[in-house]
Amino acid sequence: MKNIVVLISGRGSNFVSIAESAKRENWLDEGIQISCVISNRPGAAGLDRAREMGIHAEVVDHKLFDTREAFEDAMMQIIDRYDPAVIVLAGFMRVLTNHFVERYPGKILNIHPALLPLFKGLDTHARAIAAGVRVHGCTVHFVSPELDAGAIIGQAVVPVLPSDDPDKLAHRGLKLEHVLYPRAVHAVATGSVKLVDGRTEMDDETALSLTLFDAAA
Ligand code: GAR
Repeated sequence: MKNIVVLISGRGSNFVSIAESAKRENWLDEGIQISCVISNRPGAAGLDRAREMGIHAEVVDHKLFDTREAFEDAMMQIIDRYDPAVIVLAGFMRVLTNHFVERYPGKILNIHPALLPLFKGLDTHARAIAAGVRVHGCTVHFVSPELDAGAIIGQAVVPVLPSDDPDKLAHRGLKLEHVLYPRAVHAVATGSVKLVDGRTEMDDETALSLTLFDAAA
């Protein structure tokens, strides 16, 4: 069985979109299952959604640890029980150190709410509006030790409108996150997308399925 472990910090809407795709598309028939959700925040709404869906949910509260490494060790102890094929960061808002990242080479994915390499870090929607860009979007990438800099897997593009505020733009982008991320997770789980020598390898058809444009406001 190819196990997927999902790390969240809050709402968990990306986790839910992946879990719903897995169910609708019968990923289990391909030997792929979402085995566990871990949150670093005890109150994360995504934990309840996981339990409702019958997915094992755990909390590793980062506030209870003195160092990032100790926090990561506690997560790794849970994660390693599943020998996961893919570790999905879905709104997981803690920076991971090399200690964690180097343990799971080519297996950790993240979704970032911007068209990388633009707007790494936080407040991406406000910064995109302030910069006056006409397009924005989201990026799924392999996680590397440098923040938001790993090899890109897929991207989704949305327009930035004159009437936008950060919330409106975030909402438009999130709708495409929910389409892009399940596809990317599935593609990595099946092996049609791989990290090779620091670059993403896939065929043209897969690349097209991981490139989305939504001109509709
Ligand atoms: C998503 O928009 C995701 O791109 C972003 O947090 C949101 C989580 O929503 N991630 C980051 O900013 C990572 N630095 P969700 O909890 O509903 O999936």
